[in-house]
Amino acid sequence: MCGIFSIYSKRDIKPNSFINSLKELEYRGYDSAGVAFFEEDNIKILKTTLKIKDLESKLKNNLKTSLIMGHTRWATHGSPSIKNCHPHEYKNIVLVHNGIVENYDELKRHKAIQQNKFKSDTDTEVLAHLISYYLEREGSLVKSVARVGEIIKGSNSFLCLDKKDPKLIVAYKNKTPLYLGIKNNGEFLFSSDLNAMKNDLNNYYFLNDEELIEINNHRIRCFNSKMKIKKMTMVPYASSVVKKKKKLEAEGLITYDEINSQKFLIPKIFNTFDTIKKEIKTIKNFSEIVIIGCGSSFNASMLGKHYFEQISGIPTAVYRPSEFVFFKKKNRNTLYIFMSQSGETADTCDLLETNTGYFKNSLSIVNQSDSRLVRNTRLSLNLDLGIEKGVAATKTFTGQLIYLYSLAIIFSGKKNKKSSDLTSFNKHYMKIFSLQNKIKDIAKKFHKSKNFFILGRNYNYPIALEASLKIKEIAYIHAEASLSSEMKHGPIALLDKNFPIIFLISNNQDSVLKEITNLYEAKSRSNRILLLATSNVIQKLDKNFLKEISLIEIPNVEEDLLPNLFTVPLQYFAYHLAKLNNLSVDQPRNLAKVVTVV
Ligand code: F6R
Repeated sequence: MCGIFSIYSKRDIKPNSFINSLKELEYRGYDSAGVAFFEEDNIKILKTTLKIKDLESKLKNNLKTSLIMGHTRWATHGSPSIKNCHPHEYKNIVLVHNGIVENYDELKRHKAIQQNKFKSDTDTEVLAHLISYYLEREGSLVKSVARVGEIIKGSNSFLCLDKKDPKLIVAYKNKTPLYLGIKNNGEFLFSSDLNAMKNDLNNYYFLNDEELIEINNHRIRCFNSKMKIKKMTMVPYASSVVKKKKKLEAEGLITYDEINSQKFLIPKIFNTFDTIKKEIKTIKNFSEIVIIGCGSSFNASMLGKHYFEQISGIPTAVYRPSEFVFFKKKNRNTLYIFMSQSGETADTCDLLETNTGYFKNSLSIVNQSDSRLVRNTRLSLNLDLGIEKGVAATKTFTGQLIYLYSLAIIFSGKKNKKSSDLTSFNKHYMKIFSLQNKIKDIAKKFHKSKNFFILGRNYNYPIALEASLKIKEIAYIHAEASLSSEMKHGPIALLDKNFPIIFLISNNQDSVLKEITNLYEAKSRSNRILLLATSNVIQKLDKNFLKEISLIEIPNVEEDLLPNLFTVPLQYFAYHLAKLNNLSVDQPRNLAKVVTVV
């Protein structure tokens, strides 16, 4: 994970513009941050285990530098401390790194550096030692980086400075993303994502794997791993690629804003039906679907399975990439759908990239059109929801649900919903957002809980999975999702009067009465029930029973669209649990937005 960013300029760089860009990358990791810059030809390094804001105050406003690089860290090797914070240095080498040097331990025993003293617990530091070793022999920084690129394993991008040369920077990229940008004023940028470079950007280049870029005395050159010069085809930057940030609403938190933004985004996605249909028209001849994804993308895929089997009648399996075992099966008739909002998740991308021959018939669904997954799947659909910065997936999860739903309709050969149906859905969908004060009050009854069961069936089971993930990751409360029908097979033993249960009842006519029975079974054992159910299901429930539980009423809409209505209140609920416990909702501990390590 981690974010790296640098500016190389002919003029003095404005600290604010640098810091603002580095902050844009904070979603990739926020355990610590650091910068290195040349001031009057001397290198200066600043580090903090606090947020980037702390660096901001350390970088004086009258800073005079024309080359600066920074890092925001998600710790993999070594705790978040100053000694493990980037930039790392050894002799004349200073570098910031994103990724993992998988063979770092073996490389530490490399004869060239085995006697060296290491100052940190990181895998990164070995890069500085090795580059320094080769630099003493090769005399060229870019060649030394290329030598190191050849012997490291894993996914690695890094920027490297030579303390003796304030006009030189070398970038290396393999598997984990790195962009070069050129601004309208001629400044060169390197960044882990496009969004952090967007201000005044003229054009950009996404480095290919095992490529290096050297900027030396304002001259820029790109090399492959064999040090052959490569032509870079710069992509003109259209400001529309990165959507302007919407004004934050009252609570001022990104996650809250992103939950609210669904009010307008989700109804809009339903209008992309024809575009989706056009973009996938070359998909033919498949009789089964396999969906692959992690975390929230896996949970959305579980609902995708439900849609494909129920609506399109196509058998569907869902895998986490680390558990994918389909290889022995002939796959001529399989459509592989890779789900990932970031398009950069290492587990997912690695599975695809190491087996491209196998996954020929592949489609990705992403929210980042310029990403690893898009480059390696045959077809790709872009959710186009604007960058999601809150670490917890919210709008992208709901967006994924609708794309999967639209695909299921297209694969079934049915027609899109009538616009009058969509208008009616939108009306009900809006109502969900007005429930937030009520949800906040309910959260006040539950925020001290240590555990939750979240129970549901058919389309509500994936929603229960997603709700449990949200509660775990932002409220730090243990939450377990289960099929309500499965409780009696064991988990019910955990229940006592105080065990909190969130019960989601679907209005599926085949199972609704059974689900109600399961609800009563749970209530006989616990006094702490929060029920989410549609108005017509609530009518079937005993009035006295309803007085004894917390209730969120979901408007009646067509069954296939209900998951969207169940999702939003649960996102608000997790959010309020976290807020009431004074937790860092947008940047939960130990997490990062993009998981580029396996
Ligand atoms: C949960 C969350 C993660 C991601 C997972 C996969 O809120 O955000 O569980 O869903 O890391 O990420 P993508 O979808 O980018 O592949």
